[in-house]
Amino acid sequence: MGKDKKITLIIGGGIAAYKSLELIRLLQNAHIEVIPILTKSAENFVTTLSLAAISKKKVYSHLFDLNDETEMGHIQLSRVSDLIVVAPATANLISKMANGLADDLASTLILATNKKVLIAPSMNVQMWNKPATLSNVKKLKEYGFLFIGPNTGDMACGEFGLGRMAEPSEIKDKIMASFQNNTLLNKKILVTSGPTVERIDPIRFISNNSSGLQGTAIANALVNLGAEVVFVTGPTNVSHPIGAKIIPIESAKDMYKAVFSNGPYDVAICAAAVSDWHVQNDSSRKIKKKDSNSKPNIELKENPDILADLSKSKNRPGLVIGFAAETEQLTKNAKEKLISKGCDLIVANKVEKKSSIFGAKNNEVTIITNDYMEKWPEMTKTEIGEKLGQLIVKYCH
Ligand SMILES: Cc1cc2nc3c(=O)[nH]c(=O)nc-3n(C[C@H](O)[C@H](O)[C@H](O)COP(=O)(O)O)c2cc1C
Repeated sequence: MGKDKKITLIIGGGIAAYKSLELIRLLQNAHIEVIPILTKSAENFVTTLSLAAISKKKVYSHLFDLNDETEMGHIQLSRVSDLIVVAPATANLISKMANGLADDLASTLILATNKKVLIAPSMNVQMWNKPATLSNVKKLKEYGFLFIGPNTGDMACGEFGLGRMAEPSEIKDKIMASFQNNTLLNKKILVTSGPTVERIDPIRFISNNSSGLQGTAIANALVNLGAEVVFVTGPTNVSHPIGAKIIPIESAKDMYKAVFSNGPYDVAICAAAVSDWHVQNDSSRKIKKKDSNSKPNIELKENPDILADLSKSKNRPGLVIGFAAETEQLTKNAKEKLISKGCDLIVANKVEKKSSIFGAKNNEVTIITNDYMEKWPEMTKTEIGEKLGQLIVKYCH
């Protein structure tokens, strides 16, 4: 295991930077190649020479280093490894990552990467406990960044508390575990998410209440399992899953085109709330109200059916999962949808008038296949994503 794995190790300017040398050694013993990146501050704590000697690799540090850009540009550097590890992650680096700053090589790589990022914070207990730091960490967790530590213990400054960087052996174990989790490695999975928007005129549109939270949670879970995720999403306010190929769309027709031009897929999960109709006579100019009796003539035409067409396509994914939101007769309607669309599994959820599922943190779903039905208890959408991920793992093996 790990023979062909590669990580990019970003070393921040903290007192624990010296531990990065031991981390590199442990990773090398586990056959993991390390590309070291130093922040400018980190150069005060460890030398490029000692890192190069231990890693036997070129050590990168400066964004505007012409040689590096010709050998390996900063975008390429952000893509060549399987995982980016930030250890030690200073309060400053954590703040930069949480706010999308890109003012040096390390932060630019992190913003540009399409890989998962594992953060090992290291700082004084007061720095860690500051609301600004805690809120930055919360934000990063929501964005899908992985964390290890910090631990509680003695600090280099003589104080005691939470803020010590996790030990190199713990960081190495977490890296190995993240690789072992790759049970969906080499599986290409489509996830559609969010609402679609059908234009009436440049100002008005027909859409729906889908928040994109459930689709995003599923995509995050699948990325964490190592899948290559194609995420086709309508407009939402949710942060896109890190590590997925993101294809933003507006209308159902756009979504159809994106879905069918990025396949074939091993698995398809159609969680988006796709509008059944579009406006056939949409106007390129704002429709004006002429008098109080005038009503615009809006002609609706059926949209192409993504789920049904995927289910009967030549390159049909081995597993096609649809979603059904029903206001009544949940299981009956969901079962009918399963049959009429020709998909393999429906995740059905009931839309109650009072407590809508749209935008909520939790959901209660029923899994329906041709010969099986299981009601899952209420849980967070993240947990549903993870449970669905496990179901897909079972299917794929
Ligand atoms: C001796 C010394 C030790 C430091 N240790 C830490 C530390 O452990 N954690 C931290 O967040 N900042 C620490 N700092 C402050 C950072 O070096 C400083 O915030 C710097 O801007 C971080 O830059 P970087 O995030 O680009 O590496 C330390 C500073 C000094 C002078």
